[in-house]
Amino acid sequence: MSTRQVWSRAVASTGALLLFCFASTVASANNREDCYRDFQPSSGQPGKDVVWVPTNDALVDRMLRMAQVKPTDLVYDLGAGDGKIAIAAARDFGARSVGIEYNPEMVKLANCLVKAEGVAGKTKIIQGDIFETDFSNATVVTLYLLPELNLRLRPTILKMKPGTRVVSHSFLMDDWEPDERLSSDHGQAYFWVVPAQVEGNWTLRSADSKDAIDVRLEQTFQQVTGTAGETKRSLTKTSLRGDALEFSFDDNGTPVRVVARVNGDKMDAQVTRGGKTRKYVGTRSG
Ligand SMILES: C[S@@+](CC[C@H](N)C(=O)[O-])C[C@H]1O[C@@H](n2cnc3c(N)ncnc32)[C@H](O)[C@@H]1O
Repeated sequence: MSTRQVWSRAVASTGALLLFCFASTVASANNREDCYRDFQPSSGQPGKDVVWVPTNDALVDRMLRMAQVKPTDLVYDLGAGDGKIAIAAARDFGARSVGIEYNPEMVKLANCLVKAEGVAGKTKIIQGDIFETDFSNATVVTLYLLPELNLRLRPTILKMKPGTRVVSHSFLMDDWEPDERLSSDHGQAYFWVVPAQVEGNWTLRSADSKDAIDVRLEQTFQQVTGTAGETKRSLTKTSLRGDALEFSFDDNGTPVRVVARVNGDKMDAQVTRGGKTRKYVGTRSG
């Protein structure tokens, strides 16, 4: 075979390969309308524990802003429906996202919409029960369920990494007060930050070990009370947001401010007393 023949065969087979690739891309491409060919969901249709009603687009955007979703986040929508919250998290905020949806027809539709919106590299909708599927690696959890379902999920959510953000359309978490609320023409949304578990007896020691402060913390979700110092003065100006804990107390007439990061049974603190700030390390003894 001449060199010319070899080249023309190679060109022909490369052309055939390109044509095949192009044809298969066209065949697998879809737009939103194509996704509804086999199944058209209807608002109010039954679901396992709650019916499907989609969140309004503008409210989806407000909810994701409220949760300060960013590209480093992994957003889980529990009860994902047509996947719109998971899709918006990836498309509009650059996050990775997962939707958990029980109804297999909705899962198929949602995954088709994921492709149509061009976010298949960042988003997937999985078929599963929100009470049985692990979502512990989420940094943001979104919900549009029912009050009693939120309450059933609450113990799992409270065990998530401190700082995990949760936003719920319409429904609260019983007596766990939200950190923020929003009211719009399209409904209400509530926002929480999972608090670190800080309750207990702590000893904060200065880096040079010359000083120690005993602190007793009591906790109801993100609300913290307690006492500190030799005279067990009540804590004031307390705040707990995720792992960030702050409080003040009066130490024999000198105001003391503690700003700490809690990590399990340890905390790294900056203690300001009489205008001077020093590093302390806290350990929990029980
Ligand atoms: C009110 S819709 C919300 C849909 C979507 N999150 C939104 O805001 O547009 C609730 C969804 O949860 C699904 N669902 C109900 N019980 C479920 C369960 N146990 N596990 C997973 N999905 C469930 C329903 O099929 C429905 O699609």
